Amino acid sequence: MEQESDIQAQRDLMYGELDLGSLTIFSGSFINYGYWGDVAPGREITLAERTASQAELYRRVVSRLSMPLGAELLELGSGIGVGAALVAREFGAVVSGLDRSAAQLGRAAEANAATLADMPGRLSFYEGSVTAIPFPDASFDGVYAVEMLQHVDDLAAVAREVHRVLRPGGRFATATFFAPDGAGETPVADLIETVASGVDVVRPIGEFTADLEAAGLREVTATPIGEHVWRQFDQWVAQTEFRDSWGRNWLRCYENGWIDYYLVTAAR
Ligand SMILES: C[S@@+](CC[C@H](N)C(=O)[O-])C[C@H]1O[C@@H](n2cnc3c(N)ncnc32)[C@H](O)[C@@H]1O
Repeated sequence: MEQESDIQAQRDLMYGELDLGSLTIFSGSFINYGYWGDVAPGREITLAERTASQAELYRRVVSRLSMPLGAELLELGSGIGVGAALVAREFGAVVSGLDRSAAQLGRAAEANAATLADMPGRLSFYEGSVTAIPFPDASFDGVYAVEMLQHVDDLAAVAREVHRVLRPGGRFATATFFAPDGAGETPVADLIETVASGVDVVRPIGEFTADLEAAGLREVTATPIGEHVWRQFDQWVAQTEFRDSWGRNWLRCYENGWIDYYLVTAAR
């Protein structure tokens, strides 16, 4: 328990004072690895393309919810909130963003001031944890999360909370990295510093889909999307001052079958 709260403190520091989203590996106030189109090896990637890749990951996740205009959605780990604003704008949804970091919520209020003013009642941010979601049962038509579940030690608790806050017939969609089933013992922790420290947890994908099913969710699917993520993200990292860092090892882990990026969906 002591060890677990140390790890949580590191995560909170990373998104608090250290402001991970300000690093050059991210852009546009998004904090994810992105869903990319083809990028020819060796071609210079523009900052606009890097930002577009992160916005596109949001579209890929939220389009899987297949929600009508006006649907009430909850985003888990909304970060600086630019993704939640995109979803409110492009999908015509009413979005509540949840994040445990007060610093991120402060950044979200600032970064989305115009959207908050232009679309009153369509975008709100709340402080709280995805393992104890501060909303009553059956509050939402859809719940989604973009690159955040890797920070949660108890995914079974998240699955139960998602089931609880979804209305009957509601849908869940998420994307982040997991280990492919059958990957077995891998050297990922030796190669990725945030995995070694416990800040990121790389679970077998089948464990998470089993958690969703055990929580009562139906129609659970998991689709590997690594071909749209890792090589292009690595090409971007190679353009930054992190070109010689352990951050380049994500691609190595993917190419060896030790890690992949997954789009996971389920229904209540
Ligand atoms: C990698 S960032 C992703 C942010 C955003 N989804 C994006 O793609 O730009 C992960 C976010 O999850 C938040 N987070 C981490 N653990 C959390 C938890 N247990 N409950 C709520 N938010 C959490 C962090 O504060 C951070 O803002």
